[in-house]
Amino acid sequence: MTKPDVRKIKSGPLLRWAGSKQRLVPRLAEYWNTSFKRYLEPFTGSAALFFHLDPKRACLNDINEQLIECYEELANDPDALHRRVTAISSTEEKYYVIRALDPKVLTSAERAARFIYLNRHCFNGIYRTNSDGKFNVPYGAAKAGAVPTIEKFRDCARAIARAQLTSLDFDTFLKKNVKSGDFVYLDPPYAVANRRIFRQYDKHSFGIEDVERLQNCLELIDSRGASFVVSYALSAEIKPIVQQWGARRVTAQRNVAGFAEHRRKAVEVIITNIKE
Ligand SMILES: C[S@@+](CC[C@H](N)C(=O)[O-])C[C@H]1O[C@@H](n2cnc3c(N)ncnc32)[C@H](O)[C@@H]1O
Repeated sequence: MTKPDVRKIKSGPLLRWAGSKQRLVPRLAEYWNTSFKRYLEPFTGSAALFFHLDPKRACLNDINEQLIECYEELANDPDALHRRVTAISSTEEKYYVIRALDPKVLTSAERAARFIYLNRHCFNGIYRTNSDGKFNVPYGAAKAGAVPTIEKFRDCARAIARAQLTSLDFDTFLKKNVKSGDFVYLDPPYAVANRRIFRQYDKHSFGIEDVERLQNCLELIDSRGASFVVSYALSAEIKPIVQQWGARRVTAQRNVAGFAEHRRKAVEVIITNIKE
């Protein structure tokens, strides 16, 4: 396999994201090479692998509409977005004022600035909404991440501007987009046993029935002559997929439930149809 072109490896993500694969990036990058026609990511989140590889052509998708809108605004005008975010004070009081704003009454530029502001100042970069779809993560206090520099905004904007962005359910996205010669990186949230209950609160979650849909999608990707790499927690749910395709075990520091006392090494699996 041709190794990744290290000259193209430039940037880390702009956002903090629960489940970010930042620590697995070196392992995942081994599967990529520049002969792939396009890079596709149905569960984009903070897109740690995408920013690391900085591919020339990409399709990025996430069911989180505000996340995707934020990337669109970033690509359009990173300087204006940076000005808007840094103009807001980082105090706890201001955080709750910004959090209380109704996103529906904001412009897309204001929503994007609010999204980045909340992401950088909330507890552990978690994205969680209540039953009314309102963002409800508390202030991150000392853990709040500083807003990245304008250079970081510009670097990420340049990479994102080359990507086609959508906010669809993963299997609709894959059926619409996958073509022969594509590289597809899939990093779904880890399944929640009873998603029907959980989904009432959070549409960004992923359940057991989604694992079955994921399995069908992998067959679709393979049948179209594209390559896939999946990362997932070593678990009973993923077993049927592991049995079908095989897997490589890797350990990564994982921040379980966002609390420091639950940070521990977790065993993950990487599943691929790329011949090693
Ligand atoms: C584990 S995170 C991806 C993290 C990403 N690899 C990174 O490095 O930041 C999973 C993402 O899947 C998204 N998601 C959840 N359910 C989805 C669905 N049915 N279709 C598409 N995206 C979904 C979530 O909004 C979340 O951003």
